[in-house]
Amino acid sequence: MKVIKLKSELMLELADLRFKGLSIGFVPTMGALHQGHISLVNRCIKENDVCVVSVFVNPTQFNNPVDLEKYPRTPEQDCEKLESAGCSIVFMPSVEEMYPETDNRQFDFGGLDTVMEGTFRPGHFNGVWQVVSRLFDAVDPDKAYFGEKDFQQVAIIRYMVKQENRRVEIIPCPIVRDVDGLALSSRNMLLTSIQREKAPIISRMLQLSCSMYKETTVENLKDSVIKGIEVDKEFKVEYMDIVDGNTLRSISSWDETDYAVGCVAVYCGSIRLIDNITYFNNSK
Ligand code: PAJ
Repeated sequence: MKVIKLKSELMLELADLRFKGLSIGFVPTMGALHQGHISLVNRCIKENDVCVVSVFVNPTQFNNPVDLEKYPRTPEQDCEKLESAGCSIVFMPSVEEMYPETDNRQFDFGGLDTVMEGTFRPGHFNGVWQVVSRLFDAVDPDKAYFGEKDFQQVAIIRYMVKQENRRVEIIPCPIVRDVDGLALSSRNMLLTSIQREKAPIISRMLQLSCSMYKETTVENLKDSVIKGIEVDKEFKVEYMDIVDGNTLRSISSWDETDYAVGCVAVYCGSIRLIDNITYFNNSK
């Protein structure tokens, strides 16, 4: 496995591989890797000749400086995990390498950013777009892998690819959960052991809501998820929205869509966790 820090070196290496006719798959990450990330890497390895993984904590997508500072960084362990997974190339640039000068580009998201994460994390998706477009420029992958844990991110990346006329195929991958149901996240390691024990309430409530959505209204279902999670005073739901999985528009009745997804963001103490569940998808 090659560890590369410079964009020029990465581009040279990949040009050589592409010249040999090899297909290139790409998994962008911010490191502190867990099985969720590794599931993307495994799929990438299976479907491509070359698997490139980037590990870069992108400052422009953090709307909260404390969150950026606290974000876990474990580069050595990340390399070990990627090596044993069978990854070919890790790209670990510095901030200066990714942003030699400030990126002032402001993107239009066609309305996809006016709900959920877009509302509560202003500037977040603009930063994601900035970094992913720079990474796509450097890697020029045939396929790129994104987790459905960040449901809105996948929709936005797909939109970006269309807007920028890129050839890359975006492959969404299912959420990987711990045995107790908690969606794996680099942020989970910031939870205290008591918070970690209680955090599966989020996925339990989503699961429960999935089993009963047919018997109730969208509004009531959202309320019951929020109430169920907030039974514990340490948990505060920032939003619980039920949206059309393609347009991300909030729905108010089930017959408005053929693809309904419930998305939630919860503060567990000061740590913010997100999760989602698909109620039904007849749009495929
Ligand atoms: P990060 O949070 O490190 O996630 C990297 C990729 O792993 C994302 O596509 C994310 O959805 C996926 N992922 C995280 N947890 C997962 C889980 N439990 N199951 C399945 N997939 C999971 O998302 C980012 O980084 C950044 O925004 C990035 C795209 C790298 C741009 O900076």
